[in-house]
Amino acid sequence: MSSGQTKTAEVLPTHTPALFEKAVRLAADRLRSGEVVAVPTETVYGLAANAFNAAAVTAIFRIKGRPAHNPIIVHVASLAMARHCTANWPDTAERMARAFWPGPLTMVLPKTDQIPDSISAGGTTVGIRWPSHPFIQALIRECGFPLAAPSANLSNQLSPTNAAHVQSALGEQLPLIVDGGQSQVGIESTVIDLTRVPAVVLRPGMIHLESLQAVLGEDGISDSSAGSEGILRSPGQLKKHYSPRARLTVLEWRDDANLRAMLTGLGYPVGSCHVIAHSRIPSESDLAGVSVIPHDPEAYARALYSELHRCDAAGVQCIVVEALPEGAEWRGISDRLQRASS
Ligand code: TXA
Ligand code: MG
Repeated sequence: MSSGQTKTAEVLPTHTPALFEKAVRLAADRLRSGEVVAVPTETVYGLAANAFNAAAVTAIFRIKGRPAHNPIIVHVASLAMARHCTANWPDTAERMARAFWPGPLTMVLPKTDQIPDSISAGGTTVGIRWPSHPFIQALIRECGFPLAAPSANLSNQLSPTNAAHVQSALGEQLPLIVDGGQSQVGIESTVIDLTRVPAVVLRPGMIHLESLQAVLGEDGISDSSAGSEGILRSPGQLKKHYSPRARLTVLEWRDDANLRAMLTGLGYPVGSCHVIAHSRIPSESDLAGVSVIPHDPEAYARALYSELHRCDAAGVQCIVVEALPEGAEWRGISDRLQRASS
């Protein structure tokens, strides 16, 4: 931690093997002594603590300002470790793990007593994920215990997809942030509940319903988010979530003139609007700014939060996002835009 007036987190780089190993060692030391550190995952950055240390987990809630009724995901680095956190490992979990782990899928299963009640928010289940980012994998192996980690942002704010995002939101409250580069997936994991038959998608993500059904069968899992409220079974899935500070609106326009007419109709001063487009790119002339992100779900997800963070940092008042295509592969991203705009 640096000395001086304002405390900020030390940011550990990982871009050479020696730096990577040093960061693993330093982060593991902190975690072993019950501290909280921010680490990269392939989805978004996480705020990690020893999942078997109830006091360390409590510190996560305090730092995030997270309500106690919102459970936290436990990150593992092997199937054996995942089984160790669960009271029951059904065949569906085995098949999903073999198909999608390591990767952006969280499975809700019955928890063992070793998982503190704070992680499960007093419930009987635990959400488990084996992330694919090499740093968090190496860190979990070094620690030998699983890591409880929500996204590394203040409660209800936008998830971070790089170390700078974490530094600006939580740097004053953390000893360490590990810089593992830009998150490759870019939105949070798909969360599924395997304690129900058929299983249910609690939070859509980049592993979409059709991929899940390819493994569990069409009748094996359903998408509760269709009505967008089934997800309330996941206590953290409040409608207002994942929000930038600016007002965010999703619109579909034909052309430049049509876009400006819509903005004016909504009472938005054109000059205070930043537009995020993927297909119909407006001219920048009188707008606060224009970002273009690729018309491809993987690339779009990877870029979206960075653009929203950039708008927040620039103090943009109004973000207008071009409506997304229909289709299973866009559903996780649409879900986040919906939450950010509600
Ligand atoms: O990609 C991700 O999932 C990231 C990275 C860091 O792994 N983590 C993340 O954590 O997004 P968080 O806490 O921001 O969101 C986890 C979501 C919350 O909505 C929470 O309510 C839900 O998963 N969840 C966690 N455990 C659960 C459980 N036992 N039952 C139901 N929902 C659960
Ligand atoms: Mg979060």
